[in-house]
Amino acid sequence: MIRGMLHFDANLLDPEVEAQVDELLAKLSLREKIGQMVQIHVHDGNVEASLELIAGGHVGSVLNYYEASKLNRLQRAAVEESAAGIPLLFANDVIHGYRTIFPIPLAISCTWDPELAQEAARIAAEEATADGTHWTFAPMVDIARDPRWGRIAEGAGEDPFLGAAMARAQVQGFQHDNLESGRRLVACAKHFAAYGAVEGGKDYNTVDLSERTLRDVFLPPFKAAFDAGAGAVMSAFNEIAGVPCTANAFLLQTILRDEWGFQGLVVSDWDAVGELIAHGCAADLREAAALSAGAGIDMDMASNAYRQHLEQLVAEGAMPAAVIDLAARRILRQKCILGLFEQPYVDKSRAAHSFLRPEFRAKALEVAHKSIVLLKNEGDLLPLDRAVRRLALIGPLADDHHEILGTWHRIGRDEDAESVLDGLRAVLPETEIICVRGSNVLESEPAGVGAAVQAVSASDVVVMVLGEAETMSGEAHSRAYLGPPAPQMQLLQAVYEATTQGPQAKRQPLVVVLMSGRPLVIPWLATHIPALVQAWHGGIRAGRAIADVLVGNVNPSGKLTATWPRAEGQIPIYYAHKSTGRPVTGPGVRQFDEAFRSHYIDEENSPQFPFGYGLSYTSFRYEGLQVETPVVDLDGEVVVSAMVRNVGRRAGDEIVQLYVHDLVAEVTRPVKELKGFQRVSLTAGEERRVRFAIPVQELGFYGLDMAYHVEPGQFQVWIGPASSSGLEGSFTVRDT
Ligand code: BGC
Repeated sequence: MIRGMLHFDANLLDPEVEAQVDELLAKLSLREKIGQMVQIHVHDGNVEASLELIAGGHVGSVLNYYEASKLNRLQRAAVEESAAGIPLLFANDVIHGYRTIFPIPLAISCTWDPELAQEAARIAAEEATADGTHWTFAPMVDIARDPRWGRIAEGAGEDPFLGAAMARAQVQGFQHDNLESGRRLVACAKHFAAYGAVEGGKDYNTVDLSERTLRDVFLPPFKAAFDAGAGAVMSAFNEIAGVPCTANAFLLQTILRDEWGFQGLVVSDWDAVGELIAHGCAADLREAAALSAGAGIDMDMASNAYRQHLEQLVAEGAMPAAVIDLAARRILRQKCILGLFEQPYVDKSRAAHSFLRPEFRAKALEVAHKSIVLLKNEGDLLPLDRAVRRLALIGPLADDHHEILGTWHRIGRDEDAESVLDGLRAVLPETEIICVRGSNVLESEPAGVGAAVQAVSASDVVVMVLGEAETMSGEAHSRAYLGPPAPQMQLLQAVYEATTQGPQAKRQPLVVVLMSGRPLVIPWLATHIPALVQAWHGGIRAGRAIADVLVGNVNPSGKLTATWPRAEGQIPIYYAHKSTGRPVTGPGVRQFDEAFRSHYIDEENSPQFPFGYGLSYTSFRYEGLQVETPVVDLDGEVVVSAMVRNVGRRAGDEIVQLYVHDLVAEVTRPVKELKGFQRVSLTAGEERRVRFAIPVQELGFYGLDMAYHVEPGQFQVWIGPASSSGLEGSFTVRDT
C-alpha cells in the first residue's frame, strides 16, 4: 500500500535545526569537524581498523556497508566511543530497489510514469531505511546520448525534460516523509555534471562541451532534483573543458550555490579527490584536498585526502577555517534532519518484516510490465496463442535468475527473481515448455546449437531470450560493439534457419526477447525476426512480466527513452539534434540520393528505433490537433490538444507525447524538443482528447548572454506517438 507521498525538503533551512547545528559546531575541534567530512568504505575485512578510526572521531560517514546489526556496531563506536559522539551517516547505492529489485532505471524511464518511479523509490527507501541506510547515492540523473556508455542503464535516457520529471519523482519517493520504518532517506543527485557526455562513450573519459549545452541539456534534471528537495549531490569523475568536476568551482559554487541556492551536501565520487592527481591538475594528495575543499566538495569519498591533509592546510593558512565550518555544517544539518541524534541506531528486527512484502513485489511487477517495449510485431505474431502445445524457450537468459537483476542490484538475490521460464510456466500451465540454453552470454556452449535446433523441431512456437549479462552495462562497462555477443548471434541464426525451413505451414513462429542495460544495435534482428520484445534487465519480477506480455495478459506500453541506432557509427544519435546548414530533406535519404548534405555515405540518418517509440497489441489513431492558443504571451500557457482513439480490439495504454521546435532564435534550437507527455488508458474503441498546457517559460534556452530566455516568434508543435511522427501545428509567442 502506498500512503501519501509526503517528502521532506532538505534545502529549507529550519531555524531549530540550524540552532542545533550551531551548538554542535561550537563544541567540535577543527579535527573533529574535518572528521565529519570523511567518508570511508567499510567491508567485513576492515571492520576493526574502521572502528578505530570512527572511535577516534575521524569519520563522518560510511559507504557500501549493509545490515542493521553491522551498522549498529559501527554507530556505537561513533556515538559511545568518540569524544564528540556524533552519529555516522550510512550511505549506499540504492539504485533500483534495495532488496525488492525493480527494473534498471533506464527501463523505469520507459514507463513514462513518474508516479510509478516515485512509488518504486519509496519502496526502496522503506526497505533500505529499515536495514539502517540513511542516504542513497541516487537518483542518477545524467543525460546519456551514447549507448556505448554502460552507465546509460542507470539513468532516464537522453532527454532533459523526461529526465527532470524522473529526477523529481525519484527524489520525492526516496525522501518520502512518512516511511513505515519511521526513518528517512536522503537522496543524492549524481554525477554533477555531464558525466554522460564522456568522449567515445568510454567511462571516466574526458568531457568537453559548451556551457550552453551543459545548461540546456545536462543540468535541468539536477535542478529538478534540488527543487524537489534532494539533500545531496555527488560530483562527477570527469573533467569538463579541462577542469575536473571535483575541483570545479564554476559548477560547485557559481551554479550550485550562487545561482541555485542549494543548501545540501556535496560528496565527491569514489576517490575522485585523489584522482585529481591522475587528471594532472594536482601534484599530490595534499593539493588535491586543497583544490576539492576549496571548490566546494564537503565530503571526501574514500580518498583519505581530507583526513590526511586538511588540518595541516588550515594550520598553514592555506585553507580558510570557514570552508571547514561550512562543510561540517552541511553534513551535520543532514544528520539533524534525519533525526540521528535522537535515534542513532536501527531496530535490527525491522528488516525481516520490511523486505519483499507482497505489495512491493506487486509493484515491481507493475513497473516491469510497463517498462517492456514492443519493438516489432509483424503480422500480429504476439500475443502468443495460449493453446500452444509445445513451446521451445531458447537462450542463455531464458532461465536466468541473475542477469535479470541488472547492474547495481547490491543486496538483491538471485533466489528472489523469477526467470522467463518460471513466468511462462505460471501463465501457460498446460503447455510443454522445452527450455534449452543453447549458448552462454559471451561464450558458445558445445552442443548448444544442436540442442536448440532439436528443440525447435519439437515445438510449435519458439521464444528466444538473448542479450547482455548484468556486468555488460553499468559503471566501467562501456562497449564498442552493441549487438548481442557473437555466440548468441550464431545461436539465433541457427534457430532462425531451423524455423524458416520446410513448408510454410510447418514453420515455427519466432519471437526474440532482448534483455540489456542499454539500447542495442540489432540491424539483422530488426530485419529478420518478426517479433521483438525489449525487456531490459527487469528486476525480480521480470520473468513473470515478460510472460504476461508474451501471452497478452498485459498489453505492452513502454516507449524508448534513448534512441536505438542502426550502427555504432551513428553514435551519438538523439532525436533533439540540430538542423545544421545542410539538413537532409527526408528520412531514409543517403549520400548518393542527395549529395553534399549532412549524412553518411553508407547508412541513413534515421535510427533503428527512435526516442519515444514503442508498439502495442492495439493501435492508436491521432486526429484533430487543436492549437487552442495560436498566439500566446511570454507569461502565458500554450494549450494544444489532439484526439487519440484506440482503433484496435484491446484495451491499452498510449504514451502521448508533445514536441516543439523554436523555428528561429539567436542561437540554433533542436529540431524537436519534448515538452509534455501523458500516459492514457483507452479501452477498445474509446477516444479521448488529450490536452497539454505548457507554460511558455518552459520553452526557453540559454542565449548569447548565457542567460535563460524564451524568444518570441513562431514554434512548430507536434502531438504524437513518438519523436518521429505526430500531428503538426504551430503557435506564436508574442513579445509582451
Ligand atoms: C560510482 C558512484 C557510486 C559510488 C559509491 C562510484 O564508483 O561512480 O555512482 O555511488 O561509486 O559506490
